Amino acid sequence: MAEKDKTKTISGFSSMRKRDKIKWMAKTFFTDPEAVMRELMSYWHSSDEQQKILDGFSENTVSNFPMPFGLAPNFLINGKTYCVPMVIEESSVVAAASSAAKFWMTRGGFKTEIIDTKKLGQVHFLWFADKQILTDHFQSIKEKLIEDCSDISANMNNRGGGILDLELIDFTDKKENYFQIRASFETCDSMGANFINTCLEQFAKSLYEYGTNITGDANALEVNMSILSNYTPECRVIASVECNIEDLGNFKGSMEAHTFARRFRDAIEIAEIDPYRAATHNKGIYNGIDAVVLATGNDFRAIEACGHTYAAEGQYSSLSHCKIEKGIFKFWLDIPMAVGTVGGLTSLHPIAKRSLELLENPGAKELMSIIAAVGLAQNFAAVRSLVTTGIQEGHMKMHLKNILNHLQATDTESEQAFSHFNDKIVSFNAVREFLQKTRDVKV
Ligand code: MEV
Repeated sequence: MAEKDKTKTISGFSSMRKRDKIKWMAKTFFTDPEAVMRELMSYWHSSDEQQKILDGFSENTVSNFPMPFGLAPNFLINGKTYCVPMVIEESSVVAAASSAAKFWMTRGGFKTEIIDTKKLGQVHFLWFADKQILTDHFQSIKEKLIEDCSDISANMNNRGGGILDLELIDFTDKKENYFQIRASFETCDSMGANFINTCLEQFAKSLYEYGTNITGDANALEVNMSILSNYTPECRVIASVECNIEDLGNFKGSMEAHTFARRFRDAIEIAEIDPYRAATHNKGIYNGIDAVVLATGNDFRAIEACGHTYAAEGQYSSLSHCKIEKGIFKFWLDIPMAVGTVGGLTSLHPIAKRSLELLENPGAKELMSIIAAVGLAQNFAAVRSLVTTGIQEGHMKMHLKNILNHLQATDTESEQAFSHFNDKIVSFNAVREFLQKTRDVKV
């Protein structure tokens, strides 16, 4: 039985020592507090200095949560070869990305095109005065807002970025008095969230000042909120692969190239038509994308939110597309991707830093290309399996590997198990029985 009452409010938790936080948690929520404490503490970093860095990323930290850090080699992207770092807990993802990368390496590799890198932010406000005054004065308000931000944007301007434009949007047909300033920014190699939000909060202050000045009314407007938008449809990249259909070769189950190409294209069209399939299809794309985004210290929630919003324009649909034209198979991914390679976790997290070094310290545009290529590779591998053998074959191999590890099979036993289960259904019990029999025979 847990010793403490878990319904009791705990105060001053954040200022407790880490060890005391674990102790409180273990005693309140677990029946074996000693074991829980030992386990969590075993994941503390051996270096206090490194642990301090990790603790600095969040609050109320009690331990670290290990995730596999894997590599997908053989990615040929715009003529350059990369070994891509991936952090993911789902088996088969890295294997699938690596296999698709190797497949396309001998067929010209991945090509990418950056559409733009524009980021967006918004100041949402209610305007209670005559709206003509606002529209008539907006040009001068805009100039003043940008001028008031000159100190904040000086550094970004020196790096070749800064505030691009401010647009007034009238939403009064949807909500009474509601207007918005939609601001666009270029943040160069950084994600730019802090820069954008600082500018937006300054815009809000200045807007209130000028709004009340031009109307002579302290109640002319009320700023509701100022925050970046994670929907950046112009900050986008297109990654593609293409080859002659014949060069696709033959596939498992002796499927020849033309049949494969047609079945593959049909599967993509199904994901374009049906949101239920599109969600799973795009999830497969983000299996690869999130893994690289995490490994490079970027914000996978922001990237996913943006991608799904983009996929939902009109009706939620596939982010990838395929066509067969004049004997050529072409497959591409058109996806928004706001990432950074400087600032934030990218340089603070020791492994994220190494990941970027492994990629030879790309700028934001190059990282957009790498991530999009991995997303496309991941999607290619998933759909290739789905239209040929089905995905269970590959998944079951990983499943078998995990069960064998769990049952502490030796290398020889694993080899025997792989050949035995080649044409049989894998289950925990079946593998245990197989191992028992093999071990009995040996004895
Ligand atoms: C599983 O994580 C991802 C897939 O379901 C993607 C897909 O169906 O395209 C295999």
